[in-house]
Amino acid sequence: MKIAYKEFGNGKPVVLLHAFPLSGRMWKPQIESLTANKYRVIIPDLRGFGESGNFADINAMKDMADDVAELLRNLKIERAIFAGLSMGGYVLLSLYSRFPGKFAAIVLCDTNSSADSEEQRESRFDFVEKIEKNGIQTLIDEMLPNLICEFTKQNNSGLVTEIEQMFAETHPRAAIAALRGMAARDDFSEMLKETSLPTLLIFGAEDKVTDEETAGELNRRIPDSQLFNIENAGHYSNLEQPDAFNKIFIDFAEKIVL
Ligand code: MLT
Repeated sequence: MKIAYKEFGNGKPVVLLHAFPLSGRMWKPQIESLTANKYRVIIPDLRGFGESGNFADINAMKDMADDVAELLRNLKIERAIFAGLSMGGYVLLSLYSRFPGKFAAIVLCDTNSSADSEEQRESRFDFVEKIEKNGIQTLIDEMLPNLICEFTKQNNSGLVTEIEQMFAETHPRAAIAALRGMAARDDFSEMLKETSLPTLLIFGAEDKVTDEETAGELNRRIPDSQLFNIENAGHYSNLEQPDAFNKIFIDFAEKIVL
């Protein structure tokens, strides 16, 4: 399906895939820094989110990945550096599993390569029921507090409000469809053992969802990877510590030949 996207700048293409239940807007703190360093930045709204309304019962990671592949074909982008944060990382891995030739490098942020455990699936289905009853506020009350770190809560209430607003703008049916999609996603851990692509791992040091152990496991699994744990950042490392995030990203991207 055709999805909405934003495009900025000229140069090496970088595709940024957003987290759940946000939209491409979450990458705002990266745009200026990337365009100033001569990157062409492509930011899709994955199906269901932002301006890519779609109200299917389930939005699989594979379908979201297919939308991104179609977008890149339409934009005539042959190869790019791909970054995905959390759900964006799941979509990235699905895309890579089918279109590896499109990748010059991988950037995985606050995400993991495994499928859900039974317990994680149960918890997603609980959320589906609660969203059906009480709307998206459920995610603001029960999910968001666990994602943002204490430092951000105490020092950046403006960002907390902004993230709450992004959650609130998400259509409940889009959140439900993506929760079902994430529960059904494939495990790409074995695939990553085989990749020869340069891979950057950026994690918030205080991320409780995809924690240090998850980050360390990914780093051990991927042959050519570098891991950075950013202090005073939780699950949204790019939003909570944008300067540190941007520096790490650009230092890595500079070395990638397209
Ligand atoms: C996200 O930030 O995209 C979600 O935490 C992903 C997930 O629920 O697995």
